[in-house]
Amino acid sequence: MDRCLIIETLNNIGKTVSLVGWINTIRSHGKIIFIDLRDRSGIVQTVYTKGKLEISCEDVVKITGLVKKRPEKMINPKITTGTVEVEIESLEILGKSRELPFPIDTDGYDINEEIRLKYRYLDLRRSRLNKNIRLRSEMVQKVREYLFKHDFLEIETPILTKSTPEGSRDFLVPSRLQKGKFYALPQSPQQYKQLLMVAGFERYFQIARCMRDEDLRSDRGFEHTQIDIEMSFLNREEVMRILEGMITGVFEGMGQKIKEKPFPIYTFQEAMKKFGSDKFDLRSVEEKKAGVKAFAWVIDFPFFEKDKEGKWTFTHNPFSNPKPEFIDDLLNKRNIPNILTSQYDLVCNGAEVGGGSIRSNDPKVLSSVFEVMGYSKGEIENQFSHMLQAFTYGAPPHGGCAFGVERLMMILTGEQSLREVVAFPQTSGGQTSVMDAPNTVSEKQLSELGLRVLPSGKSLTRNG
Ligand code: AMO
Repeated sequence: MDRCLIIETLNNIGKTVSLVGWINTIRSHGKIIFIDLRDRSGIVQTVYTKGKLEISCEDVVKITGLVKKRPEKMINPKITTGTVEVEIESLEILGKSRELPFPIDTDGYDINEEIRLKYRYLDLRRSRLNKNIRLRSEMVQKVREYLFKHDFLEIETPILTKSTPEGSRDFLVPSRLQKGKFYALPQSPQQYKQLLMVAGFERYFQIARCMRDEDLRSDRGFEHTQIDIEMSFLNREEVMRILEGMITGVFEGMGQKIKEKPFPIYTFQEAMKKFGSDKFDLRSVEEKKAGVKAFAWVIDFPFFEKDKEGKWTFTHNPFSNPKPEFIDDLLNKRNIPNILTSQYDLVCNGAEVGGGSIRSNDPKVLSSVFEVMGYSKGEIENQFSHMLQAFTYGAPPHGGCAFGVERLMMILTGEQSLREVVAFPQTSGGQTSVMDAPNTVSEKQLSELGLRVLPSGKSLTRNG
């Protein structure tokens, strides 16, 4: 198709071009019909003067016509192509549209979310969402550019993996070939990226999908995407410098103003004392209005805390190294409440946008973490022997971080919900957009997997 993009009409004044796109608006003034046409590059006004047209908004059409410069008085400064219009010679309908279930020329916040998500492909035509999705792509591109420039490799890690305690509940996938056994979807690529350091890649990143079956909130989904990074032979400060360089470069590259550089660093204790939270907002009221982004690091978190049952558990990541001065304490399992971890979190405008640490590369240190948490030798062997073994074959000192893409995008766009920066998010009840999952599967599929579903509400009994 010999197609001219709408934005290119500006360079084609006096020429006849063919445009394709969606009918954005139709305004009929007697014998003259104005049609605003929309494609991925923008909107242009087209004019029809040859009588009646059987068209409706959101029809996909091909318009062939002459691009004309608009008289000074008729210029529309609100659209990029406001200095031109296209005089329609012919109009062909390529795809008819029914009336939409909701308006798409508003910001859409007031429309019932389930309906928006059921017709997400229409909701995404809304300019606010279209812009969010484009910005997300731009951000990820800038991340990649920075990391490739700094000698990182992009490496994929498995989606079907093993269930291990990483802080949240796993999504499980039944195995057909080994009935009764399950894969788990990754909560993060944490262990694989560490194994890539053992493998000698030294600098890894991945735009990684992570799945966690946790309570949903406005900034927490079952699925999210991490900018996942790991590097070898660097200390905590060096790792933080590279990460900060990336965040600064990406945000400033997208026209954002950062409050303070280098990012201020608070210890967990200082943050709690000063703000009563480790996810604090450093902006003044004026800075909030001006859209300033206030990043800060939080360091020196306690390694362990007591869980609901009074047992020790990790606060952030069991694979972290304690700060060097606490390694002896950990190995000897003493002074537990006071052991500090090498963890660093990045907060911005009151949200946690990323976190990471220097890892333990000594199997004795990693085992000690799980021993403090009350794991038996057998349990540690069963769950983590792959890591412990890998660390006996020359594991480099390493560390890294992961940033939440949705969290960063929420900060960048000012959106209050993660769903506004994801193309096909889930409802707050965990139902997928457009396609109705989770859903039942056939008896045949279940029997292939060796599974039987109990009537709803019933739980397994001894004879079940
Ligand atoms: P963590 O669990 O802190 O660390 O996750 C890293 C970042 O990912 C984002 N995030 C989420 N975003 C949306 N919905 C969720 N359910 C969700 N969970 C996490 C947050 C968070 O800061 N493997 C470690 C990282 C590391 O140590 O390298 C990890 O996953 O922005």
